[in-house]
Amino acid sequence: MNEISFNGRVAIVTGAGGGLGRTYALEIARRGGAVVVNDLGGCVEGTTAGDMAAGSGADASMADAVVAEITAAGGRATASHDSVASREGARRIVQAALENYGRIDIIINNAGNMRLAPFEDLTEADLQALLSVHLGGSFNVTQAAWPQMKLQGYGRVLFTASSAGMYGDAMYAGYGSAKAGLVGLMNVIAREGKPHGIFCNTLMPNAFSRMTDNVQSRMTELAAPGTANTAQEQAAARMAMVGNSMDPGFTTGLAVFLASEACTSTKGIYSSCAGRMARVFIGASEGWHGSRETPASAEQVAEHFNEINDLSGGAHIPANPADEFRIVLAKPQPTVGTASNH
Ligand code: NAI
Repeated sequence: MNEISFNGRVAIVTGAGGGLGRTYALEIARRGGAVVVNDLGGCVEGTTAGDMAAGSGADASMADAVVAEITAAGGRATASHDSVASREGARRIVQAALENYGRIDIIINNAGNMRLAPFEDLTEADLQALLSVHLGGSFNVTQAAWPQMKLQGYGRVLFTASSAGMYGDAMYAGYGSAKAGLVGLMNVIAREGKPHGIFCNTLMPNAFSRMTDNVQSRMTELAAPGTANTAQEQAAARMAMVGNSMDPGFTTGLAVFLASEACTSTKGIYSSCAGRMARVFIGASEGWHGSRETPASAEQVAEHFNEINDLSGGAHIPANPADEFRIVLAKPQPTVGTASNH
């Protein structure tokens, strides 16, 4: 097996002051890459505009500590304390890579915040805070670096989604929207980037971190009276089975591979869950094919709804909108093994 090296490569890892991002930064640096360790610091809920105006809500020591760790081990790293949520912050993060190392090969969009609430209680401010960091931040940093990557004819971009958005979970309306939105962004720019050697993939991690600690306590707080203990017992039973695999280090290998030259795949969604790594996809069932001349009535839809829902024959994964037409118009089609993500 060829060793994966980052010699000569320059990476930006956002939200790398702790949790998962810290492990990505350390591992890329250990393998020879130069890393911009970006982290705003601040709390799990994310810094508000009011906090920033008051000069609080950020903590430079998080990114600085990771840079110190990398340099002490003989690696190359520079700290960035800007917020990904503003375009100006993103521009400065990218500038830090260019000024210090002269290029940008990798962006791991990992910075994230968390606000949990029942749907009806999620405020406009909560929604904006989540969208602006997860979706806006990934958009801002990647767009700021895009011209440089095109110029180089090389790039690896990683987005961080979440099972809370991709599969759905109660209390995550804002977070889940932002995380699922990232997949739409990836789908589009993976196609734009491919001719320029820029590959974009999405990671769905699972790991203990300060964010999951926060989720745990907030879920307990939000639980219906009398249900908190049961939920905690169920969670504890699950956790007893995961061994060490919720350590952030169990996701690092997948993130680092997807950020490397060895990864020649693009537009993929990959889940790391308790030691299992798998591809997650958006696909279409074989479905029910009605007439192409006369529209189906609601009753006909009802009659065929089981066929429409049936996944037992596998799924098609269209590479793009035109590909879906190709699949449909080419019926009869084999329903398994038609996946294409390139
Ligand atoms: P974490 O809270 O340890 O890491 C997130 C980091 O992002 C923090 O260090 C925080 O200071 C930084 N950050 C927040 N807002 C920022 C901003 N505006 N600009 C720059 N940095 C900012 O949490 P964790 O678990 O390591 O999360 C990393 C990523 O993985 C997040 O995007 C999270 O949503 C995602 N994720 C984590 C899961 C888990 O099980 N830990 C599950 C699914 C997704």
